[in-house]
Amino acid sequence: CGIVGVTGNDNAVKILVNGLQKLEYRGYDSAGIYVNDQKGQDYLVKSKGRISELSAKITPEVHGSTGIGHTRWATHGVVSVDNAHPHFSNDDRFYLVHNGVIDNFQELKAQYLSDVPFRSQTDTEVVVQLIDKFAVEDHLDAKQAFLKTLGLLKGSSYAFLMMDREQPDTLFVAKNKSPLLIGVGDGFNVVCSDALAMLRETHDFLELMDGEVVTITPDKVAIEDADGQTVERKPFHVDMNADEADKGTYPFYMLKEVDEQPNVMRKLAQTYLSEHGEPNIDKQLLQAMEAADRLYIIGAGTSYHAGLIGKRLFENLAHIPTEVHVSSEFAYEQPMLSEKPFFIFLTQSGETADSREVLVNVNDAGYPSLTITNVQNSTLSREATYTLLLHAGPEIAVASTKAYTAQIALEAILAKALGELTGQIIAQNFNIRQQLGLVATGMQAIVDEKDKLEEMSSKYLLKTNRAFYIGRGIDHAVSLEAALKLKEISYIQCEGFASGELKHGTIALIEAGTPVIGFITQAKTAGLTRSNLQETMARGAQTLTIVRESLAVDGDDLVLPDVDEMLMPLLSVVPAQLLAYYTSLNKGLDVDKPRNLAKSVTVE
Ligand code: G6P
Repeated sequence: CGIVGVTGNDNAVKILVNGLQKLEYRGYDSAGIYVNDQKGQDYLVKSKGRISELSAKITPEVHGSTGIGHTRWATHGVVSVDNAHPHFSNDDRFYLVHNGVIDNFQELKAQYLSDVPFRSQTDTEVVVQLIDKFAVEDHLDAKQAFLKTLGLLKGSSYAFLMMDREQPDTLFVAKNKSPLLIGVGDGFNVVCSDALAMLRETHDFLELMDGEVVTITPDKVAIEDADGQTVERKPFHVDMNADEADKGTYPFYMLKEVDEQPNVMRKLAQTYLSEHGEPNIDKQLLQAMEAADRLYIIGAGTSYHAGLIGKRLFENLAHIPTEVHVSSEFAYEQPMLSEKPFFIFLTQSGETADSREVLVNVNDAGYPSLTITNVQNSTLSREATYTLLLHAGPEIAVASTKAYTAQIALEAILAKALGELTGQIIAQNFNIRQQLGLVATGMQAIVDEKDKLEEMSSKYLLKTNRAFYIGRGIDHAVSLEAALKLKEISYIQCEGFASGELKHGTIALIEAGTPVIGFITQAKTAGLTRSNLQETMARGAQTLTIVRESLAVDGDDLVLPDVDEMLMPLLSVVPAQLLAYYTSLNKGLDVDKPRNLAKSVTVE
């Protein structure tokens, strides 16, 4: 979910709606705003669906200078206007938006609010009714009632933004585990889940720590820690231009982000390689990694898939054993660790709650860690020992593309640096600068073949409801990502499979016409994958091949330029991204905002 707030600005409605539009990637099943004009007028507008639907419900009379807003990704309760935020107390005094999950809301409801009628099924409404109850029955002011309520939510994840009609120019803010920033303006202040939402208003943001409570008026931001002590903190500057987050002339962000990949490769080379092509990576980080006897890569979704490639890179170039884990699994069933583990968190957003949960445990155990993320100052970046930024520019489409390739390229640079430090000849001989140059040119050649990919999509994918990507080794890892792309935006059931394993059961799913797309980029397994494709063809499959040039034969469907085998995923994933894009587009779906998903999932 995404939340926004503003105080001290007569454009509050516009600021909230614009902000929510920028946060739509965090959830888009319903939305709402509450604004107060300080003269006794206030308005609550909520709607199902996208922010555009909310906008359409906001009539010209809706105005105010202080307000809060929310865009939802449903956790508790179906998608409905009643379940949309802001939630409010039964006496219409307190208004609250919330990101996160209150684990004990049922208990709190039973213990304190058994006689209170509820409008929604949400955990959030329990919180706002509790605040009201404590204010009325215990004669507490808004802040005291807020604090008392927070004290009952221990362990839960939340970012809250609350307003009290009796102090209409004040925003009450608290966070635990969920992300939240305060933007500092001239005579006004704003609050947001992500700086992107407020870049039109300010570039100066204050980060908040877990357990802090903040009171914000038009000209003051008062932060208190969990013990009620005042905290002084300087804002940090976000360098990004608000336009970077616009899609320009592109119909969808996803296509823009796919097209940006060659430049992202060049930018990473510029940022992390010296003039002579040598990695330029923090020495302390490298030493901490060198001291480890095993690397543990942790990620979710596409970032997990980028980790699967990273494992090969670290093992090949640096000769350090590397494991890759899905964060939501690792958090609750930690495998036996080596003696000196080092953790690498891969996360585009830097906010994924599943991954953050692992980092909390890693920090408790005192292990060193690195977060590789696209978002400066994000939670996982702040809380890890080291951070490397992806410099990919904002990624807005829910289906991740450039963050995946950026993660792999940065893993390659890091693995090369580490391998050089540990004296691996293979790392010394790996000309990463030249390779990334070839990758950038190769990516460009592929994105220039859009017409061909659209045609392939129409011919083989548009009409099917099942498909396979197959490959071995590193090609298998790319198959998983390729299949995820197709699934998430076109809703075709697609599996990424180890091509040799298909015959041990799953081949039963192949029917006449089922598309099976094979990745063939690794010399030692090329012949085997071709045989496995033949096996599916013999059972009626419609096979397609995505092959690196030096392994290509007549009749291959898509030939990719040659780069080092280890870096072939950077090229082979691009046609899969475009196949998914065109399938979704030509099915008439919302490419950037597929059903049921959110880009940044801040609940476990
Ligand atoms: C969500 C998104 C995925 C993404 C995953 C991990 O589920 O829909 O596209 O890969 O989170 O996100 P992260 O920001 O941690 O890379």
